[in-house]
Amino acid sequence: MAKFDHFNLIGPIYDWIFHRRNPNRLLEMVGLAAHHTLLDIGGGTGRVSSRFRAISPSIIVADPAMKMLKEARKKGLLSIIANSETLPFREQSFDRIIMVDTFHHVADHQLALDEIWRTLKPGGRLVIEEPNIHNLFAKFIAWGEKILFMRSKFFPPEAIVSMGAYKDAENIRLVTKNSIFWVMIDKCNRALE
Ligand SMILES: C[S@@+](CC[C@H](N)C(=O)[O-])C[C@H]1O[C@@H](n2cnc3c(N)ncnc32)[C@H](O)[C@@H]1O
Repeated sequence: MAKFDHFNLIGPIYDWIFHRRNPNRLLEMVGLAAHHTLLDIGGGTGRVSSRFRAISPSIIVADPAMKMLKEARKKGLLSIIANSETLPFREQSFDRIIMVDTFHHVADHQLALDEIWRTLKPGGRLVIEEPNIHNLFAKFIAWGEKILFMRSKFFPPEAIVSMGAYKDAENIRLVTKNSIFWVMIDKCNRALE
């Protein structure tokens, strides 16, 4: 029996429910340049990555929920059906990879991080944005997702850092603001040698 997917249900109204706040902070953290390629994993409707299009045209949204991707396509974004655990890309494909509000929805977190790291280019940067489960509002979100049987699993920022193998990582940074945190990890250029 096919597994029920909440995001296929809410895809058509997702952007309407979840307005993106000021994207400048994320834009700054990602540090995208015009010649960079960006992969938005679990990018859904392209709500976030559409904000990056003014900087670089080379953006791919990967997500398992077809109805979410349909909205991304309407925005003119290149969209691919994929789970973060099995990314259909060669190693070292992207200069920047973002994963916004998605990590807690993934089934195999370890595998997802391995795949993300595999597809990141040397000199590239991974930015993961997640609800900060230490915060009361994020706890409320987690509770809501639990009663909706969303099978979410929330991790604190340190756990995301210690979970991945991140060979050739440098500049690991954690930033927390209210109910959100960001983990930023750069892959050093040494990997090119
Ligand atoms: C809360 S939405 C966030 C969408 C988008 N990143 C945003 O911030 O607007 C979570 C997304 O994660 C996707 N997702 C669920 N499981 C996934 C997995 N294993 N790999 C990649 N994405 C997944 C869902 O389909 C959904 O689009």
